[in-house]
Amino acid sequence: MLGHVSGKRSAVTCALKCGNACAQGVCNTSSNNYFRDVVSAEFSRRNMLGVSGAGVLALMFGGGAAANAGSATGLAPAAKVGQAGNGSKLKFTGIDGVANTVDDVVVPKGYNWKPVIRWGDPLFNDSAEFDPENQTPESQAGQFGYNNDYLDIIEIPGTNGKRAVLFANHEYTNENLMFPPTMDPSVVRRTAMAAHGLSVVELRRKGKGQPWEYVRGAKLNRRFLMDTEYELTGPAAGSKLLQTQADPTGRKVLGTQNNCAGGTTPWGTILSGEENFNQYFKVSNPSDEQRRYGLTNTNPSRGWHVEETRFDADLPEGKNEDNRFGWIVEVDPFDPTSTPRKHTALGRFKHEGANVTIAKSGHVVSYSGDDERFDYLYKFVSKGKYVEGDKKHNMTLLTEGDLFVASFTGNSPRNQIDGSGVLPSDGSFDGTGHWIQLTKDGKSLVPGMEIDQVLVYTRLAADKMGATKMDRPEDVEVNPHTGKVYMACTNNTKRTAAEVDEANPRANNKHGHIVEITETGDQASTEFTWNLLLVAGDPAVDESVYFAGYPADKVQPLSCPDNVAFDSAGNLWISTDGQPGTIQRNDALYRVTLEGPERGKVEQFMAVPIDGETCGPVIHDEDGMVYVAVQHPGEDGSWDKQRSLFPDYLPAGTPSGKGGLPRPSVIQMYKGKNGH
Ligand code: FEO
Ligand code: CA
Ligand code: CA
Repeated sequence: MLGHVSGKRSAVTCALKCGNACAQGVCNTSSNNYFRDVVSAEFSRRNMLGVSGAGVLALMFGGGAAANAGSATGLAPAAKVGQAGNGSKLKFTGIDGVANTVDDVVVPKGYNWKPVIRWGDPLFNDSAEFDPENQTPESQAGQFGYNNDYLDIIEIPGTNGKRAVLFANHEYTNENLMFPPTMDPSVVRRTAMAAHGLSVVELRRKGKGQPWEYVRGAKLNRRFLMDTEYELTGPAAGSKLLQTQADPTGRKVLGTQNNCAGGTTPWGTILSGEENFNQYFKVSNPSDEQRRYGLTNTNPSRGWHVEETRFDADLPEGKNEDNRFGWIVEVDPFDPTSTPRKHTALGRFKHEGANVTIAKSGHVVSYSGDDERFDYLYKFVSKGKYVEGDKKHNMTLLTEGDLFVASFTGNSPRNQIDGSGVLPSDGSFDGTGHWIQLTKDGKSLVPGMEIDQVLVYTRLAADKMGATKMDRPEDVEVNPHTGKVYMACTNNTKRTAAEVDEANPRANNKHGHIVEITETGDQASTEFTWNLLLVAGDPAVDESVYFAGYPADKVQPLSCPDNVAFDSAGNLWISTDGQPGTIQRNDALYRVTLEGPERGKVEQFMAVPIDGETCGPVIHDEDGMVYVAVQHPGEDGSWDKQRSLFPDYLPAGTPSGKGGLPRPSVIQMYKGKNGH
């Protein structure tokens, strides 16, 4: 099982994180086009009439103008015209790339780093202390979970920046590193199960710009475990596709697993995406629908089905249970007694995350990528409108609305999109796009599918409607300064030269790219224009690398963009997942200037330790703080031969049982003396 390597990640990460998805056949076998409408007279009359003046200008002048149209959108530009730099309050000199053998966190000169919370830290007064040799399901249930991914830190109002609430999810477990090989297999399975889920933890500090510490026993602290009840909302709640032997109502699910990225809503709740849920289910003869979601007849390595029969889809207890995962979860971190919810209106797929913005009309719009090779970008538009200050009302907004999937059309001739990644003659990978509507007013718009089928089998609905197959859409976020949408397509080494299109222009796309989308008018619009902001890689060895036209010899190489975030000045921050395998550097966090003369300038802020992934970046530049969730440090090690001692760095040779093992942790970086 561990013999396979995808071309970027380690074999262990492939096996444990997404169940060797890359080694399986491509899930999307639909005959859906790879390339749509290649034209030179690409701008339909509808598009020309539909866009703003600035948009028309950008379209008419092709890539160059589109690439610099940010300040002409009518929205506030991130940097003032003529201003040097990018307006960021976070001053640092970019670091060099860090070799993929280094077991350390590297930050810029003048910065310090420190953990906020680590796997196993006790959350409640009665929680057991972390004891790596003797972990139990009960002790883990009271401690911070494993492999933190999505992260946010929200200051608690009225505390003068001295209190905050931290949310993190726990995507998956690496039993080989976590537990002694002599441990009882059932205890291993159940403890690993308790290390999944979500955590809410209160933080305190002396004041702004100071490092945080977590508060054990604080009243908002909460663990969400596999027996936590979630309410299904929206048009598919109660559908027979969601009914199980244990829950004939089809409305109450126990647990969430494989949560990846997420988003924080304008009303202060957290969204978290259930991603590679398929790998937890045993099934002998998967249906077409199950195959489309990656369920195969391989035996799930974590063995949850041995502990709970609902994870065995071959048994009556397991029927439909897999349909109850793959949703966007909404959690209120400020109410520890609240019931978390899974929103069916946003569709079911391998949600990377979901990010909400408020359209001019007041409707809320959520963008979400389906992280699989050749899968799609989705958007949800709420039926109701946002009401400032009315949290109770706003918490209903994701239960009703319309779901769309993206279709991208290039504007350069097909023969110029040859798979090499070299720019076409108009100087840009760019074009127009359309949001294909899948649901409207709680009804299906997909021929032959009822509303609950569209929402439970969203991938199949999108196949039928001709969505564009992308190179693994990961995080998708809206720039609060410009309203433009940024999507990380992390990589896709299965795309062939025959399958490239202008939005996914490289065959064997090892390094990924970033798509910049400009909605036509309101954020709830059905039309958009787009261009590739970055075509990632190492410019020293790859001529297709493109950083928005910025001189390639003046930037840091970047590969496998995964999560994106913005600072208060509207600069884009990108974290990576896979650089150790592609450019032999530890995964990292970068700032990319989006506006002004330095658009496309990439500066590296930090690097995570060996085998680790840079998740959940949170940029509080006004406070001088940057946070990341360091996931799977030392992933390729084992209990007896650890490769990382992050974050405690006890003396080399300290046995795993005495703390000489890596602990996935949330870390904070701030101005201060280097050293830890
Ligand atoms: Fe969990 Fe799409 O990365
Ligand atoms: Ca073009
Ligand atoms: Ca991710």
